[in-house]
Amino acid sequence: MEYGTNINTVLYGGDYNPEQWPKEIWLEDMRLMKKAHINIVTLNTFSWAALQPSEDEYCFDTLDQIMELVRENGLKVCMATSTGAHPAWMAKRHPDILRTEYNGMKRKFGGRHNSCPNSPTYRLYAAKLARQLAGRYKDYDNIVAWHISNEFGGECYCENCEKAFREWLKHRFGTIEELNRVFYTSFWGHTFYDWDEVVLPNLQSEHFMADGMDRTMFQGITLEYRRFMSESMLECFRLEYEEIKKEMPEVPITTNLMGFYKPLDYQRWAESMDFISWDAYPAPGDTPAETALTHDLMRGIKNQQSFVLMEQTPSVTNWQPYNKLKRPGQMRLLSYQAAAHGADAIQFFQIRRSVGACEKFHGAVIDHAGRDDTRVFREVEQLGAELQQLGGAFLEGYTPARTAIYFDWENWWALEYSAGPSIRMQYLDAVRDYYTAAFELNIPVNIIGMDDALDAYQVVIAPLLYMTKTGIDDKIRKFVKEGGTFITTYFSGIVDEHDLVIQGGYPGRLRDILGIWVEENDALPEGERNSFLYKGSIYPAEILCDLMHLEGAEALSVYEQDFYQQTPAVTKNLFGKGCAYYVGTRSNHAFYHHFMKDIFKEAGISSTMVTPNGVEAAIRVSGDREVLFLMNHNAGEARVVMNGDYVDLLSGRRYETGSFIEMNGRDVYVLENCDRQSFIA
Ligand code: GLA
Ligand code: ZN
Repeated sequence: MEYGTNINTVLYGGDYNPEQWPKEIWLEDMRLMKKAHINIVTLNTFSWAALQPSEDEYCFDTLDQIMELVRENGLKVCMATSTGAHPAWMAKRHPDILRTEYNGMKRKFGGRHNSCPNSPTYRLYAAKLARQLAGRYKDYDNIVAWHISNEFGGECYCENCEKAFREWLKHRFGTIEELNRVFYTSFWGHTFYDWDEVVLPNLQSEHFMADGMDRTMFQGITLEYRRFMSESMLECFRLEYEEIKKEMPEVPITTNLMGFYKPLDYQRWAESMDFISWDAYPAPGDTPAETALTHDLMRGIKNQQSFVLMEQTPSVTNWQPYNKLKRPGQMRLLSYQAAAHGADAIQFFQIRRSVGACEKFHGAVIDHAGRDDTRVFREVEQLGAELQQLGGAFLEGYTPARTAIYFDWENWWALEYSAGPSIRMQYLDAVRDYYTAAFELNIPVNIIGMDDALDAYQVVIAPLLYMTKTGIDDKIRKFVKEGGTFITTYFSGIVDEHDLVIQGGYPGRLRDILGIWVEENDALPEGERNSFLYKGSIYPAEILCDLMHLEGAEALSVYEQDFYQQTPAVTKNLFGKGCAYYVGTRSNHAFYHHFMKDIFKEAGISSTMVTPNGVEAAIRVSGDREVLFLMNHNAGEARVVMNGDYVDLLSGRRYETGSFIEMNGRDVYVLENCDRQSFIA
C-alpha cells in the first residue's frame, strides 16, 4: 500500500502542530502553506494529554476543528496517533508505564518516547486511543496515511520487561537446556535452573566494565534482549495498527523511522509497515554518500519500494552541538537526493516554529518572524513549485541496481557487543567503505537483508559479516557458483545467530567459497598500521589484520611488514562460474575506490554516468520513464558532459549526447531520458 495512492504528484508538507497556537494564526498558516505549494500535513503527533484528559474521558474538540480547517483548505493529512508521549496523569496513576534505564533507574514523568513497551497500561491506552481516533475520523477521505506514535526507540529494563523477556525466552528456546546452550552458561558457572533466574542484561547484572555503555559479559543474552526489545516495541506498533485497520482498512499505516538506528531491527519492522517513512537529519559533516546510503537502506528494508521522507529540517536543527544552517540551495539538494534514492514525498519538521521548550530554535517553514519573505520560506516555496511541475515523473520509480550490499541489524548488534578483538571495528564504517566507492562511481546499489533474493545482482558485498546465519552460506555459495561476484572482509563468518563461534577455522561456513583459512586476527591500536601493495599502489592496513592461509584462493596482495609479512591480505577465489574476494584488513578510501573500480569493470557493471567529483548522478525508473537526477554536492560550479539525450523537466531544455550542463554550486537538474520508448517529444 502506497502513501497517497492515486495522487499523481509528490506529496509535500510537514508536521503541523496548530494546538500550540491561537486560532487566529491557523488561517494565516493556511495561506502560507498554500503559497508554498504544500499539500499535506502530519497532524496530532503529540496530543495525547489533550485528547485524553483522564482515564475514561476523551476530548476531540480542537482536533475536530483542525481537521475541518485543513480539509476546507484542500490539504491531505498524515494522521499521527499521539502515543509517542503519555499524559502526566497516566504516569502518576499507573507508574508501570514509566521506563527503567540501563543503570536500573526508574524514570519519573518527563520527556517523550517514555513509555515501557511491555506496560499493560501503555498497550491498553495506546490501542484505545488509536481506535478512538480512527473511528472518529474515518470519513475524512483526505487522510492518506496513519502515522503510529513517533520515532519508536530507546529501551526499558523494568519489571514488566523482565517478566516478558522470560516468556520470550521460553517461546524462543523451549527448554532450559537449550537456553543454557545458546547463552553458553557453562562459562563462569552461569547455568540457569529456572526461567525466572534470568535477569535483564544491564548495569545491575552483566555489564562489562571495559568499554561502552551497553556491552555485557554474556553477549548472547544481550543479543537476545535486543531482539526482544525491538520486537516489544513492534508489538506496540502492531496493536495500534490493528485497531486502526478495524476502522479504516484501506488507508496505509507507517511510523517514522530513523535510518541507521541501532536499537530497532527495521528489517523486521518493515514487514509490519504498509510503507516506509523516515526522518533525515544529516549532521553538517556527513558526506553525500552517507546520506545516500541511509536513503538506500530505508528503500531496501521493504523490498526496494519507494518511501516517504517524513521529516527533514528546512534550515536548522536544535539538538546538535552546533546547529549550522543549511546553505542556500542545500535543502533543495537534499530533498532531490532523497527523491533520487526513492522518496515519493518530501516533508518538513515543522511548519511553524515553536515558541517555547527545547525545539524553539529548530528550523521551520514559518519562523518566529511569521513572514513569507524569509530565505527559508522562499526556498520551500520554490521547491514546492518545482515538485508540482514534476508531477508524477518519478513516483514509485525503482533504482536499477545490479550491485547489492548486505546490511543486517543482528550482525550489527552481535559484532559491536562482542568484547574483542577491537573497539575500533565498526560495522557502519565497513559498509560505508564499499558503498562510498560505488557512490563515487555513480553505480546504483541496493541495500539488502539476509532474507532477500540475490537473483537480480551481479556483485554482492557483505562487509564485516561476523554473524553467518543458518542458510546464508548456501545462498552465497549458489550465487557465486552461478557466476556472481562476492566480496567479504576481515572478521567475517565468525559466529552463528546466537553469537556462538563456528568451529573448525574462520571464516567458518564461508571458507570453501573464499578458499582461505584465517588463523588469527591482529587488532592494531590507533596510530599503528601495516600495509599492502595492490596493483602497483601501496595501501594501509589498519584496525584488524587477518592472518590467513590460502586453500585454493590466490593472493592479490600480501602484508608488507611484521611477522606475517608476505602472507595474504587480499584474496580472490574462482568458485563455480563466479568468484569470491576476501579483503582481510581495513584500508583507506583510495583503496576501496581502486579495488571496487576493478571489481565493477570485471563484473561488467558500468557507471550511470561519468561526472566530476562531488556531482552525483542517480536514476529512477518509473514505468516507461527514466528520470536522471544530477546533483552537485559541491559549493562551487561543475561541468557535466551528457551521455544521452535528455530533456530538463523543469526548464524544458534539451541536451544531446556530448553537450554539457554548467551546474551552479549545490544545484540539481531533473532530466528525463528521451531514448526511452514512451517519451513523447
Ligand atoms: C524528530 C521528531 C520530531 C522533532 C525532530 C527535531 O525527528 O520526530 O518530533 O523532534 O526530531 O529534529
Ligand atoms: Zn519496561
